[in-house]
Amino acid sequence: MKILAIETSCDETAVSVIEASGDINSSNFKVLGDALFSQASKHAEYGGVFPTLAKREHQKNLVPLTEKALKESRDLKKSEGVIIYDNVFENVRDEEFKNSILEFLNKFEKPNIGLIVVTKGPGLEPALWTGINFAESISTTWKIPLIGIDHMEGHIMSGLVEDTNEGLVLSKPDFPILALLISGGHTELVSMGDWFKYQLLGRTKDDAVGEAFDKVARLLGLPYPGGPQIDAYAKRSREKEEKHDIVFPRPLAHDDTCDFSFSGLKTAVLYKLEKMGDISEEEKENVAEAFEDAVRDVIVLKTKRALEKTGAKTFVVGGGVSANKEIRNGLENLIKENFPNVSVSFPGKGLTGDNAVMIGIAGYLRSLVQKPEREPLTAKGSQTLS
Ligand code: KG4
Ligand code: ZN
Repeated sequence: MKILAIETSCDETAVSVIEASGDINSSNFKVLGDALFSQASKHAEYGGVFPTLAKREHQKNLVPLTEKALKESRDLKKSEGVIIYDNVFENVRDEEFKNSILEFLNKFEKPNIGLIVVTKGPGLEPALWTGINFAESISTTWKIPLIGIDHMEGHIMSGLVEDTNEGLVLSKPDFPILALLISGGHTELVSMGDWFKYQLLGRTKDDAVGEAFDKVARLLGLPYPGGPQIDAYAKRSREKEEKHDIVFPRPLAHDDTCDFSFSGLKTAVLYKLEKMGDISEEEKENVAEAFEDAVRDVIVLKTKRALEKTGAKTFVVGGGVSANKEIRNGLENLIKENFPNVSVSFPGKGLTGDNAVMIGIAGYLRSLVQKPEREPLTAKGSQTLS
C-alpha cells in the first residue's frame, strides 16, 4: 500500500510517500518520495520556534513539498480537467493557502495512494492545524482514508525500524519496550507493553532536553538549533589534551523518580558564564562539554532506573537529541555494562529529527488494527501518548 505522510508539528514541513507492506509482526517500508523543508534558519533570530511564523511557512510549503514527494514517487499525472474542484476543507480559511490547494487539486489527477497520514499532536497547535487541514482537504477530495498520528509514536517507530538494503524493516520487538524520547519539545520515558499500549514513567518538569541545548547554545552565542552546535563544541573540548575543571549539577539525579529537570542546569550555565565574563572559543568548548556531560549523566541514570522498573527487553531512543553522540555513547555503555540482554536501537540517519517517514510508518501500523478517522481530526498540542 502506498502512503502519503505529512508532518507539521514544529518547524519542519515534511511530506513522504512510502510503500508499506507486511503485517504487525513484520513490515517493510520503502521511501519512494521524500520532501522536507526545515524552517530552522528562519526561526534563528527568535532563538526558538515562533508559532505564527511556523504556521505561515507550513502554509507556503505544504503544496510544493507534496507535489515534489508525489513526483519523486511517480504518482503525479496532469489532470485532463474533467472534474473541477472549487472548495476545500472548511477549516482552511487562509485565502492564499486555500487557492494553492485548489490549484494543486485541479492540476493533477488523484494519485494511487491508499492512505493519508498526518501528525495530530503533540506540537505547536497552529502548526499542527495547518497539516491537519491540508490532509483533510486532499483526503476528502480524493476520497482517500486518513489517519492521525501521535508525533511521539512516530519518533518511537523511527528508532525501531532497521535500515536495510531492502528498505526500512520493522520486526516485532520483544516487549516490554522502554522508549526514551528526547526532542526540542519533549523529554519522556515511556513503557510500551505491546503495540500502542503506553505508560508514561517520567517526563521533564520544566524544559525539554533539546530546549536546554538550544538555550545553552544561545547563552554561548551559538545559533539555533543549538543541539548540533553544542555537540560539535563539546567534541572539540573532549579531543583536547588539557582538561578543564568546569562541573555542572545533575538535577534530580538522585531522587527515585524517572522525571527530569533541566531549567536549573541552564541557570547554572548562565551563572558560570556571568562569572567567566568574556570567554574564548576554547572556553565555550569547555562549557559545552561540561553541560553535555551533565545532561548525559542524568539521562543515563534515569534510563537505568526505568529499565530496572520495567524489566524492558527492548530499549529504543527517539527524537532530535538522539543524534547526540555523547548521549548515545553513554546509553550504549549503560546497556552493555548493566543490561546485556536488552536490545537497543537508535534512529538511522535522517530519522532522528522530525520527518514524515516515521509518521507514515506509525500510520501504516495503526491502519492494520484500527479504522480510518470518521470525524475531522483535532490538533492536540500537548497530548501524551495513549
Ligand atoms: O525531534 P526534533 O527534530 O523536533 C522536535 O520534535 O522538537 O528535535 C529538535 C531538537 C532541537 O532542540 C535540537 O537542538 C536538538 O533536537 N538536537 C540535538 C542534536 N541534534 C538536534 N541536541 C543535541 N545534540 C544533537 N546532535
Ligand atoms: Zn519531534
